[in-house]
Amino acid sequence: MSRRMNRGPAVLALAAALATWVGSARAQDLDVGSETARRAIHVCASCHGDGGRSKSPAYPSLAGQPAAYTARQLMDFRAQQRAEADSKAYMWGVSALLDDGSIQALAAYYEKQTPPAGRSKAPAALLRTGQKLFQEGSASQGIRACAACHGDHAEGAAGFPRLAGQHADYLVSQLKIFSTRLRPHGVLMKAETASMTPAQMKAVAAYLQSL
Ligand code: HEC
Ligand code: HEC
Repeated sequence: MSRRMNRGPAVLALAAALATWVGSARAQDLDVGSETARRAIHVCASCHGDGGRSKSPAYPSLAGQPAAYTARQLMDFRAQQRAEADSKAYMWGVSALLDDGSIQALAAYYEKQTPPAGRSKAPAALLRTGQKLFQEGSASQGIRACAACHGDHAEGAAGFPRLAGQHADYLVSQLKIFSTRLRPHGVLMKAETASMTPAQMKAVAAYLQSL
């Protein structure tokens, strides 16, 4: 895919920016207002968009994501535990450059950014199906209400990610990955996704992107 083509240069630019930021910095300099931090964030933005509001469905939005969740994902990439092909190709190299302090600083930065606005071209019936699954789950399939963990408005909290406004394609890809071993911290999601049909995944993802 074409998005693969810019990975090398982006990671090299990030390496340069981060080497200055992480290498020269003491904890107090990890302040994301610093010039070197801004340069590092600029590299994340080349894929994840300005302020973490991604314009491309190939890259998840990070804006408004609870800091604890973002920090955990960066640590999981760095430990090579979140191991789906796109994670390996894009985030293993990036996260290897981050120490714990810079992970916390980046996570705190993204939590403060304004989340992406909801958008949808999906048919109303699909959105209603998705909304019902999100709010009520499906008792007959053993699927709990998504809202119980992700929040009534899918706003997320602590280790539970924000899903509102996220790209539907990315959400579906992750729902499929949870039934594999490639996202071990998704263990809470295994029961939910094991019995979910592809049509249900599509519906709930369309609903979430619209929020
Ligand atoms: C070259 C492109 C690229 C760059 C640069 C990049 N990322 Fe990513 N990032 C991705 C892709 C692609 C994914 C989705 C991986 C998947 O689908 O498994 C991702 C996933 C993530 C996730 C998980 C999001 C979620 O909802 O679970 C976080 C957090 C993240 N990136 C943070 C960062 C940070 C912080 C930086 C800068 C230090 C950065 N990324 C730089 C491409 C990139
Ligand atoms: C018991 C709590 C719980 C329930 C119920 C639950 N989730 Fe989750 N979900 C989580 C946790 C925890 C994570 C983060 C996993 C990780 O850290 O890797 C997550 C992650 C996700 C992600 C990945 C987000 C990202 O940015 O990568 C998606 C998509 C998701 N959940 C969708 C759903 C949907 C749809 C439902 C309802 C059908 C649902 N969840 C029900 C706890 C839950």
